[in-house]
Amino acid sequence: MTIRTITRLAAGTALVALSVGVAHAQEESVEVLHWWTAGGEAAAVGVLKENLEGEGITWSDMPVAGGSGQAAMTALRARVTSGDPPTAVQMLGYDIKDWAELGVVANLNELAEEEGWDEVIPAAIQEFSKYDDQWIAAPVNVHSTNWLWINKAAFDEYGGEEPQDMDELYTMLDAFEEQGIIPLAHGGQPWQDGTLWEAVVLSVGGMDFYKQAIIDLDEEALSGDTMREVFDHMTKLSGYFDENFTGRDFNLTTAMVIEGEAGAQEMGDWAKAEFLNADQVPGEDFVCMRFPGTQGDVLFNSDQFVMFEVGEDKRDAQLKMASAVMDPAFQVAFNTVKGSVPARTDIEDTEFDDCGKKGMQELAEAAENGTLAGSLAHGHAQPSAVKEAVFDVVTQHLNGQISTDEALEQLPQAIASAQ
Ligand code: BGC
Repeated sequence: MTIRTITRLAAGTALVALSVGVAHAQEESVEVLHWWTAGGEAAAVGVLKENLEGEGITWSDMPVAGGSGQAAMTALRARVTSGDPPTAVQMLGYDIKDWAELGVVANLNELAEEEGWDEVIPAAIQEFSKYDDQWIAAPVNVHSTNWLWINKAAFDEYGGEEPQDMDELYTMLDAFEEQGIIPLAHGGQPWQDGTLWEAVVLSVGGMDFYKQAIIDLDEEALSGDTMREVFDHMTKLSGYFDENFTGRDFNLTTAMVIEGEAGAQEMGDWAKAEFLNADQVPGEDFVCMRFPGTQGDVLFNSDQFVMFEVGEDKRDAQLKMASAVMDPAFQVAFNTVKGSVPARTDIEDTEFDDCGKKGMQELAEAAENGTLAGSLAHGHAQPSAVKEAVFDVVTQHLNGQISTDEALEQLPQAIASAQ
């Protein structure tokens, strides 16, 4: 090798090293842990990812399937324990408080102040976005869990009105049975059992009872006659499921309604994303209504992005992501796909479909009327340990492993030992 070749090679290597260095300096990325793995959810993630990529931020995906986020929180624990937290994490209510308490989350106050988050995020959500008066999370939406999704063709064939209470619901489900379809599609996973159960609690007992039992954990409410009725309804409702319900994912369950194999499903409004993703139109192909007996009441949960303490090199991308999540135009683009409504209160409903408009209006009214409460199944009523204790009892009862008497005895006990 001549001296000239060696010099040329060395220069070349230096050039490559230099350009790699430049690329590193320019490349900003966020690693995002979330549980949006269903078709409609993935479409919504796509909106966020594209938005950030438009700002030159690379998206590094860390999806952990499992509604209500239990599996995602387990994965997060492993990452934080090993000293390598993701940049941003999708999180619900009480889990946010728990992580904040450990002192591992980043402070977003400066950005929040600059962008006036205090003025546009409702108090019920700020309750979870802030810790010790510091903003620690950027809320991207508000979901609600007390919805019923009905196949429109089956509903038309039934020919009745939208059911307004449990009796009318049974009348409609009986009609679906006569049509030869599965009356009620249900996915038997603890978080889905819990989502159905909390809607029944609200329907049977009303908002005051929900608050007494679920928010105040009043022992008498948890084990008395109204709760007995709730569990009896759960048994009755399970008689309308198909025999393969155990363990089925929520989106596969929604697909049964979409395809007309089943008549209806109780589920949070992320189910709407599945209908939209299958090109279905509200009012034409499916009906969205409040779970019978819960009209005017809203059980909410809000997906927030919690930013973790990461190195200074990642801080800029992290703040850009928080700012992008809070951008009004983004909240419209994201939530029209996700099935949720914006977390911000200063957004017009024009771009939203009929279910979205209804969701936005009812959320505002419920906040005004005191008929808004956090969803237990989705982390906004109690810390995870209590939520999981309730899931245990509800799931065992729904699967026929324990009787209603046993469920009533075990519910307050399980909650007490989880506290
Ligand atoms: C989240 C939704 C998600 C749903 C099902 C809920 O806890 O808030 O964003 O779509 O779980 O995965």
